[in-house]
Amino acid sequence: MCGIVGYIGKQDATQLMVNALRRLEYRGYDSAGVASIHADSLKVHKRAGKVADLEKLLRKNPGKGSIGIGHTRWATHGNPNDLNAHPHTDNSGEIALVHNGIIENYQSLRKKLLEEGYVLHSETDTEVLTVFIRSIYDKINDLAEAVRLALAEAQGAFGIAVISTLEPDKIIAARRGSPLLVGIGDSEYIVASDATAIIQHTRQVLYLNDNEMAIVTSEGYVAKTIDNEAIDSKIHNLEFDLERIERGGFDHFMLKEIYEQPSTFRDAFRGRLLPQDGQARLGGLIPVVEKLRRAPRIILAACGTSWHAALVGEYMIEMLARVPVEVEFASEFRYRNPVLNKEDVVFAISQSGETADTLAAVREAKLKGATVLGIVNVVGSSIARETEAGVFIHAGPEIGVASTKAFTSQIGVLALIALFLGRMQHLSQRDGVAIAMALKQIPEQIQYILDRSEAIKTIAHKFKDARNFMYLGRSFNFPVALEGALKLKEISYIHAEGYQAAEMKHGPLALIDEHMPVVFIATQDEIYDKVISNIEVVRARNGSVIAIANEGDSRIAELAEHVIYIPNTIPMLTPILTALPLQLLAYYIALERGCDVDMPRNLAKSVTVE
Ligand code: G6P
Repeated sequence: MCGIVGYIGKQDATQLMVNALRRLEYRGYDSAGVASIHADSLKVHKRAGKVADLEKLLRKNPGKGSIGIGHTRWATHGNPNDLNAHPHTDNSGEIALVHNGIIENYQSLRKKLLEEGYVLHSETDTEVLTVFIRSIYDKINDLAEAVRLALAEAQGAFGIAVISTLEPDKIIAARRGSPLLVGIGDSEYIVASDATAIIQHTRQVLYLNDNEMAIVTSEGYVAKTIDNEAIDSKIHNLEFDLERIERGGFDHFMLKEIYEQPSTFRDAFRGRLLPQDGQARLGGLIPVVEKLRRAPRIILAACGTSWHAALVGEYMIEMLARVPVEVEFASEFRYRNPVLNKEDVVFAISQSGETADTLAAVREAKLKGATVLGIVNVVGSSIARETEAGVFIHAGPEIGVASTKAFTSQIGVLALIALFLGRMQHLSQRDGVAIAMALKQIPEQIQYILDRSEAIKTIAHKFKDARNFMYLGRSFNFPVALEGALKLKEISYIHAEGYQAAEMKHGPLALIDEHMPVVFIATQDEIYDKVISNIEVVRARNGSVIAIANEGDSRIAELAEHVIYIPNTIPMLTPILTALPLQLLAYYIALERGCDVDMPRNLAKSVTVE
């Protein structure tokens, strides 16, 4: 949700920042801009559209200087036009600021500034913050202090970077709620929303925590809290490679990430599965083992695709560990004042580790005294740092806005947690071994599905003009029906509904006619026959049925217009395999419709606003 960058060093700041913005573009792509200082003058280049549009502008009129800030925007306040694009400047064009987040009290600050005679040109909260900083600077002539005092009064969320010709040798970076880090190079520093923007230049990073700021020059940096207290700033080493954030020959990140799943899924259980013992070893949970053993209730809080993975987790944990599990939309959690006991264990599930609502749920649960753990992909992210313990999913950077590999890895980790908890309770070693053996086979089974994607392309071609889709599943595959529908909506803009197959007759059945493709997840488990009856009901209303079924199921071929086969596994692991064809179906339909798969309209990868 907006990406920000800042550079100070010896290189051409504009070129470096544009490259960084390309990497951050998945965070928002409504507009892009850079500001740089050269020969005591501040130049701003910005425009609505993508980073490529900014590059066109810069080709005609290049930026100069080796200090600058840049931004790629996901619009919150104000339309995504040139005027509202960041960087914003103060009235004299001497201070420039980029911002990720929302300044909630910007209306009252705006009123105060207008009364004091300052002028505001855009509709953004960010311009208000910039001019507010200027108004303080006018009184104290100290940029870092003006930023600090302004932020102490600002309410809401921010990650910001500020430069100024008034003090042209520094970048001031600060955060509250929105992620921000400082990459430390050799006499050069890069401020960025996330590590993908800096990995090309350095592996050494300082993560800023909430309410912290850094004053960065080409000689070094000073970090402190916004309340002016010294902090112990620990340098971290980034542990992923540049190749992992490149497209690597694929047309889209999403496709690359779909095809990475055999290895990302293996990485989720590498070194954690003890097949002979039918057990999982989860080092990240060792500090809280006793709390987990005694937990009367487990709560899984998440948003979007991670919430769908949580639903699968609920079924798995309840089945294996016999502990009651509740799945919460993180966005609802704190507002409905949930009943939380100190013995409850809350897992926050988040690919990015930065989703504002999930982070807020973490804080709320901590406040209420529960044990709060994370299931996170991005190491060093806010949720990873704010939870007491947890399990990383190790899926590697996920760039495509529509989450794919993180979903299957989250389910893989939830399966390990269910196994771990189950073996502490009533699950026998023999049953544990069966689950572990099935998990080990999953990577090859994913590959098997990927090797047969041609059939899915044919189906995508046939249904590319559909206006609506229905996805139906039951038991472990009900969440996959929701996820399949979400994937299609996100990237192809076709309206799709995911539903519990049996519930369909209580309403959605009225939607079925010859124009409604219905995707049934009909794997062979104890409710297979019931799903077959649900298919008959749809066929009787002329709906076109696309079925996801197990290899060797001859019955289904007689009922469905199209069948996509998946290998056999135990029922609780089927969601991993059934999700794959649905990811591919959404991808190929979006491609047929000419949609921007990696950057779907109106969306952003990391939702750091409420
Ligand atoms: C956004 C993304 C989704 C993601 C959701 C939750 O909406 O587009 O793909 O599932 O946020 O993100 P998280 O990083 O917390 O898993």
